[in-house]
Order: sequence, then structure tokens, then C-alpha cells
Amino acid sequence: MRQLGRSAFVTGGASGIGAATARRLAAEGARVAVADQDEAGARTVAAEIDGIALHVDVAVGASVRACVALALEELGRIDVLVNNAGTDRFAFFVDTDEDLWDHVLGVNLRGVLAVTHAVLPGMQAQGGGAIVNVASEAGRVGSQGSATYSAAKAGVIGFTKAIARESARYRVRSNAVAPGPIETPLLNGFAERHGELGRRLKQGMVDATAMGRSGAPEEVAAAIAYLASDDASYVTGQTLNVSGGLSMW
Ligand SMILES: NC(=O)c1ccc[n+]([C@@H]2O[C@H](COP(=O)([O-])OP(=O)(O)OC[C@H]3O[C@@H](n4cnc5c(N)ncnc54)[C@H](O)[C@@H]3O)[C@@H](O)[C@H]2O)c1
Repeated sequence: MRQLGRSAFVTGGASGIGAATARRLAAEGARVAVADQDEAGARTVAAEIDGIALHVDVAVGASVRACVALALEELGRIDVLVNNAGTDRFAFFVDTDEDLWDHVLGVNLRGVLAVTHAVLPGMQAQGGGAIVNVASEAGRVGSQGSATYSAAKAGVIGFTKAIARESARYRVRSNAVAPGPIETPLLNGFAERHGELGRRLKQGMVDATAMGRSGAPEEVAAAIAYLASDDASYVTGQTLNVSGGLSMW
């Protein structure tokens, strides 16, 4: 049996990929802190898996630092960090403004930096850990109506590599997954809010996959659990596409 760390911290764990990941890591034996801005959702998932529910807004440094401090009090240490919280606001780039850029970059990119900055010193001090960042195929191939989101996710991929290089000597690995279209409220919210255009964009993403279908959150959670486990002990700085073959590099 492969080994996961004893304790895991999952951002955005109240819904979608994050909730599936919290469940999967718990099923593989980890005590999981489910951190989310949706407190009720985090409590529901945490209750299912005998985990810990924590409030966090990853875009706000003080909130992140307080949340990680609480997690460390409860868990003692963090062996696995899953930077999964994310958001998007669909709009063609010419129709966006600085508020949208700040919001989308703040959650998807700065949020990953802030949480990693709060967790990594402990991992380095304890001499090991695994970080898995949830990027996106949008950060590899670009996504229409999601230019800022695509930029943020490409940033996450670069950050993942730099942290892998900086932290290997502390036995901390840093990897990312790049999901394609996954059936979650984030993806389906586009279709709901933008009607026919949203549905066409979703279908376009599905058609771009080699497998011709969207994915389930559990399929991403399985890849995250692999990268977090010692089955991936010689894997760092990588981005694993979990996208039914949307891109193949
Ligand atoms: N669903 C997809 O098709 C898809 C594709 C590629 C990448 N992703 C990425 O997967 C990750 C999870 O998304 P999902 O599809 O499960 O969406 P989701 O909307 O189901 O879940 C996202 C979770 O993040 C939380 N969150 C959002 N902003 C936050 C903040 N500022 N602080 C704390 N928590 C916050 C939400 O409350 C929610 O619980 C995101 O990073 C997303 O960009 C999703």
C-alpha cells in the first residue's frame, strides 16, 4: 500500500474537486483540514470524513495565516498541501477591468502563493511534504473568455516548478494537475449564467478532449492523491494533465 502523509490541508475543499480530494485523502488515511470561504460546505465535508473545517479566504493574507495556524494547532503538522481553491468570471478580455483581474489573480495565483508561503516553512523544518497545485488546461492551451484565469493558471504551473527546485533539498515535492472540463459548480455555472454561449463553450472544451467527455471530480482527486503519495517519490515539478487528452504535452 502506498503511503500518504498523516495530515493534509485542502483549500476549496467544500465543493467539486476539493471535496472529492478531501474524501480521497481521508480514505487513504490522512487527517484532512477542509479550508474554504464556504464555511457551511467545509463543515459538511469535514463531518463526513472526520476532518477539520476551517474558514479561509485565500486571497487575503491575514485570513490565510490565521487559518494555517489553526490547522497546525489541530493537526500538529501538514504533510500534504492541496492548493485547489479557484474561481473564474467569464468575460472576453476586452470587456474585463482591473477589478476582475485583481479578483481572478488574487484567488487563483496570489492565493496559491499565500497558502504555500504559510505552509512551506513547516514542511521544510519537518524535512518533508508534498504540495499539489490545481492548475488547469486553461494555463497550458488558453481558454476563451478566461484570459485572466488562463494567465493565473499558467503562473501556478511556473510557481510549481520553482518551488520544486527550491524545496527538493528539504524533501518537499511540488507538482500540479491540469484538469480539463470537470463536472463541478464552477464549470456548470458558466452554462447556467451565460445560457447558450456558456453551453457552447463547455461543449467546445469537451469536444477538444480526445476522450470526448467531461471528467468527474473523483478522477482529478485520484491524480492528486497519487502526486501527494510516496508512489510519486521521484516526481517533482510536473504538471499532470487530467483532461481526457485535451492537450498531450
Ligand atoms: N471544473 C473544471 O472544469 C476545472 C478545470 C480546470 C481547473 N479547475 C480548477 O479546480 C479547482 C477547483 O474547482 P472546482 O471546479 O472544483 O470548483 P468549485 O466551484 O466546485 O469549487 C471551488 C471551491 O473553492 C472555494 N473558493 C473559491 N474562492 C475561494 C477563496 N477566495 N478562498 C477560499 N475558498 C475559495 C469555493 O467556495 C469552492 O468551495 C479550481 O482551482 C479550478 O480553477 C476546474
